[in-house]
Amino acid sequence: MRELFDLQGSYNEVTGGLYSGDPYPIWHRLREEAPVHAGTVHELTGIPDTLYFQGLPFPDRPHFSAFSFEACNEAFRNPAVFASSPEAVDAGPEARIPGQNMLAMGGTQHRRYRGLVQPSFLPSNAGWWMRNWIEETVHLLVDDFAAEGRAELNVDFCAAIPVLTITGSFGVPMEQALDIRAALGRDQQAIVDILTPIVAARRADPLDDLVSILVQAEFADEHGATQRLSDEEIHTFSLLLLAAGSGTTWKQMGTTITALLQRPDVLEAVRADRTLLRPAIEEALRWMPTDPMFSRWVTEDIEFHGQAIPAGSVLHMCVGAANRDPERWDDPDEFDITRKVKPTLAFGQGAHICLGMHVARGEMTTGINALLDRLPNLRLDPGAPAPSFVGMYERGATAIPVLFDPK
Ligand code: HEM
Repeated sequence: MRELFDLQGSYNEVTGGLYSGDPYPIWHRLREEAPVHAGTVHELTGIPDTLYFQGLPFPDRPHFSAFSFEACNEAFRNPAVFASSPEAVDAGPEARIPGQNMLAMGGTQHRRYRGLVQPSFLPSNAGWWMRNWIEETVHLLVDDFAAEGRAELNVDFCAAIPVLTITGSFGVPMEQALDIRAALGRDQQAIVDILTPIVAARRADPLDDLVSILVQAEFADEHGATQRLSDEEIHTFSLLLLAAGSGTTWKQMGTTITALLQRPDVLEAVRADRTLLRPAIEEALRWMPTDPMFSRWVTEDIEFHGQAIPAGSVLHMCVGAANRDPERWDDPDEFDITRKVKPTLAFGQGAHICLGMHVARGEMTTGINALLDRLPNLRLDPGAPAPSFVGMYERGATAIPVLFDPK
């Protein structure tokens, strides 16, 4: 468990887990020089390694990176020019991508597919996620350490909540949740082997879970005939949800908790007035989004914020830099939960805006509320190394050792 969720361990090395610097001053300088630069975000930040993330490494394509809010926002909102896959550049915006997940789809294929699953992820459905999976998971985890007076919140709490929520919604027994997490990105077949019997069981006998909704979802194909998702389509969607939903919320929750623990007066204010929790979560998403970069493939030669970008290039949108653009936020480096909440790019924008953002918010809200309700005098452990923020393309806090009054 610790190796899986060690941000500086082998699992995260390929996305720049060993980077422990503060990229924000460099990104400010880059944005001041020009909103869009030639090169990748990590090269421009001073990391020469080959890193992997959305849009990387693609060594045969030219790379550009956008650092201003305006440029990143524009790219997210213009899928005709900034497509979500290289196939869209090579075969056109309506290219159908067999076997690919919705993140890479474009046009009608993306709209149809997203429309099928979106209802389960709307804010009006957040209660369903909370009741079925999030609340029970959160309280079981707190039960585990509430009597101890100390805990390490990164692994023992933050990491476990999203994995157990997503695997729970897929009907995967808790004992197999870690096998799934370990196999993510390494052994897809192992995950498919766990999911296959569950999908078959729900086709025969649906329950109140996400996999049952997926097996029953109906759509009209291009000939008007009613279709259901194939096993392969359900597996592909499950793999995307597991990848997109488990690593992100873990790190974003750890970042939010760390930012609060580092500012005991702010933590106390949130404890006393829980209406402040929502702005605290939104401010952490702005201040330190866990994935500070997403990419698009450029479909035509363009002049973009002063850069000539040829068709076929990869554009990296540095949402970390965009979220601290002083044109949009005063004192952008300050973690200030009293600032007026404005949309950020932490969950992206446009057609691909994070499908799971309301689930993520529900997990973070339920998790942090439970800590504040159940752990009196919660504070960083002064005898242990203080948490710090690490990582290039997947950023988050190192261990978060805390003390509290045992119950
Ligand atoms: C704090 C946690 C999270 C962050 C910061 C985050 C961030 C993002 C971002 C930036 C995108 C857009 C990517 C792009 O445009 O290329 C995205 C897409 C997506 N996210 Fe999240 N995400 C989080 C949690 C979740 C959760 C919990 C789930 C599932 C329950 C989820 C499922 C998805 C899916 C399915 C997509 C693809 C949507 C599409 O292509 O239409 N995410 N996420």
